[in-house]
Amino acid sequence: MKNNRIPKIIGHRGAAGLAPENTFSSLIKAVEMGLTYVEIDVKISKDKIPILLHDDNLKRTAKINGLCSNYTYEELLKFDFGIWFSKKFKNEKILSLAKALDFFYINNIGVNIELKPNKGKEKDNIESITKVIKSKKILPNYFFSSFDTSSLKFVKRNFPNSPRGFLIDNYSFYDKKDIIEICKELKCFCVGIDSNIANKNSINFFKKNKLKVNVYTINNLKFAKKLFLLGVSSIFTDRPDLVKF
Ligand code: G3P
Ligand code: MG
Repeated sequence: MKNNRIPKIIGHRGAAGLAPENTFSSLIKAVEMGLTYVEIDVKISKDKIPILLHDDNLKRTAKINGLCSNYTYEELLKFDFGIWFSKKFKNEKILSLAKALDFFYINNIGVNIELKPNKGKEKDNIESITKVIKSKKILPNYFFSSFDTSSLKFVKRNFPNSPRGFLIDNYSFYDKKDIIEICKELKCFCVGIDSNIANKNSINFFKKNKLKVNVYTINNLKFAKKLFLLGVSSIFTDRPDLVKF
């Protein structure tokens, strides 16, 4: 892997405020907006093809009430993942991780692969993603992240040298000390925290424990500036047109 420096601004699901999330159009928009690093959500189809998709259910982004794990990649290709966002994006197809990785490499964009397994498919998810990554002769810079500790365990086993981040949206399941322990055990270099818990105390605590702090999802320039003053390393944004430095 090349130098894996992560910039201050990471496009969230591509540039999810400007084009349908996790689609090719969203990645193109991120490039057009000058981003150099993008986050994508990755899970698998019924036939274990890693695809870019956030929700387990297809209702929100494809207007189909069904789990993506019930459809093969070929079947998913028939659905429209753009029209929910705007007519302008009609007929936008689901995007495979394999194609996205080539796009990132060609455009010299780094990628944060968020492991978003369908429930109960954590191991399959990693095995399928591993297959795709290992099949590539050339790869963009990348790091993994997940809310799911078992996914991070599998990824540590399969890619011991790949950078990893642990995602947190509240402290109800793990408290801050648990989070530090998990990050030590899984050798995570960063935490990705929800903006609701991004305050001076949390940021200082994680930094004191030698973790870089990234915050999602920030679409307000003033808030972004405040977070950087508090010592945050990177933020994820849907709106790179508004949050730019
Ligand atoms: O990785 C940051 C962010 O994407 C985590 O939340 O739900 O948008 O995947 P979510
Ligand atoms: Mg995500």
